[in-house]
Amino acid sequence: MEILNGAEMSKEILSKISFDILNVKNAGSRVPRLDVILVGDDYGSVKYVGMKEKVAKEIGLQVQVHQLDNAVNTLEIVNLVDSLNKDSNVDGLMIQLPLPEHIDKHLVLGSINPAKDVDGLTPTNLGKLFQKNPSAIPPATPLGIMKLLEAYNIKIFGKRVVILGSSTIVGKPLAALMLEKNATVTLCNSHTVNVEEVSRSADILVSAVGKALFINADFLKNDCVLIDVGSNKHPETGKFVGDVNWESVQGIPSFITPVPGGVGPMTIACLMLNLMRCYRDGAK
Ligand SMILES: NC(=O)c1ccc[n+]([C@@H]2O[C@H](COP(=O)([O-])OP(=O)(O)OC[C@H]3O[C@@H](n4cnc5c(N)ncnc54)[C@H](OP(=O)(O)O)[C@@H]3O)[C@@H](O)[C@H]2O)c1
Repeated sequence: MEILNGAEMSKEILSKISFDILNVKNAGSRVPRLDVILVGDDYGSVKYVGMKEKVAKEIGLQVQVHQLDNAVNTLEIVNLVDSLNKDSNVDGLMIQLPLPEHIDKHLVLGSINPAKDVDGLTPTNLGKLFQKNPSAIPPATPLGIMKLLEAYNIKIFGKRVVILGSSTIVGKPLAALMLEKNATVTLCNSHTVNVEEVSRSADILVSAVGKALFINADFLKNDCVLIDVGSNKHPETGKFVGDVNWESVQGIPSFITPVPGGVGPMTIACLMLNLMRCYRDGAK
């Protein structure tokens, strides 16, 4: 059982970006800038934004966090997005999700200029992704998973991929990326019947369910590749864990991502990759 070391892989990606930024600085050019809109003070959201800010600053990027009060309305957020769309110093723009219930998420996401959409969540980028349009900016988590598999030379062509979880952030765009690589993809949700049996057909099983200890030995076929996207609190220890019951699956998969140190750091590294792409391509 080999570990897919996302922590190590992400360091390599970030160190390359850091080198590129140094060159930008040495050439006297403007450093790429990421703007993040954070609404309210949800514990997880504040933590995730803080992590992105820390990593971005460490590699020399500029970051601007716009922390808005929970009582802000949709129009006020759209107006802020609009002003950042027009600001030529802003290369990438993302909205930290989830947004409060009273905000029209679709309107807000749809107002981001697709050329600055580092999270790949505008209808334009998601639509392009499903059309195999190479100009699509893919969401960072699915992109991170694809890069991790590539780094370990794990073949996708012709493989059976089962994705547990069909969210717009993870499952659906990952399915598009896997299809692009000629995998046979099954996308599951909470209503999937016999989910263990479906999972056991997978050469590559991705769990993005968000339930600690959910995946056990019953979900796996021998020598599968197991990707754990979940980020949860262990029900007893309170520790940060994924969806996989690590003890139960010991020795079954050929490759497995740990939590922490697997998909999480790859997501942040790929967000920075997307930012560099937006910076290079420039908003039209
Ligand atoms: N590591 C990272 O970088 C990263 C990035 C993003 C998310 N995450 C984590 O990944 C997890 C999923 O995130 P998300 O935003 O995609 O969550 P989400 O929007 O809540 O989606 C969860 C998905 O799992 C499905 N699901 C629930 N129970 C299931 C079951 N028994 N069998 C099959 N599918 C089931 C849901 O089905 P329905 O559609 O029927 O409800 C839904 O499609 C969370 O733990 C999140 O924190 C981690």
